[in-house]
Amino acid sequence: MLKNALRPFVLGARKIVARSKLRSLPGNGFPQIALPATAYLLSERADVPAEKIADRIEAERKRLASFGSQKVDILYSPKPGSAGSEATVDLRPSHGEIMQFTMEQVARTGKTRRWGLFMHLLAREHRSANLLELGTCAGISGSYIGSSPHCRHLTTIEGSPALAELARSVLPLTVKNPTVVNSLFDEALDVILPTIEPIDFLFIDGHHEKIATIHYWQRIRSKLNDGALVVFDDISWSQDMRNGWNEIVREPHFSHAMDFGVVGVCIYRKGGTNPPRQWDLRTVAGVGKGVGNPHGWKTREAAVAD
Ligand SMILES: C[S@@+](CC[C@H](N)C(=O)[O-])C[C@H]1O[C@@H](n2cnc3c(N)ncnc32)[C@H](O)[C@@H]1O
Repeated sequence: MLKNALRPFVLGARKIVARSKLRSLPGNGFPQIALPATAYLLSERADVPAEKIADRIEAERKRLASFGSQKVDILYSPKPGSAGSEATVDLRPSHGEIMQFTMEQVARTGKTRRWGLFMHLLAREHRSANLLELGTCAGISGSYIGSSPHCRHLTTIEGSPALAELARSVLPLTVKNPTVVNSLFDEALDVILPTIEPIDFLFIDGHHEKIATIHYWQRIRSKLNDGALVVFDDISWSQDMRNGWNEIVREPHFSHAMDFGVVGVCIYRKGGTNPPRQWDLRTVAGVGKGVGNPHGWKTREAAVAD
């Protein structure tokens, strides 16, 4: 009861701290390209063109959800440990179990309007032209990033045939030039990487396992343009993913690593020798420091010991 009564004050205090943190960023060397998206997380108000795009995408999400209990296949992230113990470029992590999701769940699995707009604003401010996404689902996040006016080509990879088919109808509503590749990530990368134009924006949102995430990132790294944005999704989804994020941001391949709790955003730097400048923006994002425990999963070490 007392907790409920105090809630508005706690939230108000958090907002004050978040505003002050946001104000301090420009003078402290925070990357300009990430400022509008970061400020949006606090104001939750974007400009009219961005909000209009979001309305269009959200109407489509609603339509998908209206199919309710109709089922589609989805590849669920495997339990930590199934990809082995060492992340290498050569390792081919086995994909997760194929599960059936209802259309209602599929619609919900796509990034929310808030995080979708956040990524749209990132891609727009960065003027990303060539975008690659791992984990299409029904095409909701792809619609948000690919609808940036600077996007020339979005390639997105999805292992489930039913979801890839769905995304092929959803993406063209807002994205000019989408390609949906229906394949496992590694097999798709075998085909795509030799010929792909240098990538400006990479979004990794599937196969949420530390070792798999590092493996995909390592495979794609040499195809990134200097200054490219790399967005890792669900970095606090499990302790295993959090460990993955902590490892990735110790590498010298980024100039900046921004921790928004839900997603981690990095700026790629070719030939870097020092670890990136790290930014903890969870207060601004309104996200706590907790880490998820999906389906009762444990740390990779504990899972392996089971
Ligand atoms: C979290 S969902 C992606 C959500 C989507 N990015 C959005 O926000 O709209 C992850 C997707 O990745 C796909 N996936 C997971 N592991 C995969 C793998 N190894 N190869 C191909 N697809 C995979 C799943 O089927 C699922 O649709």
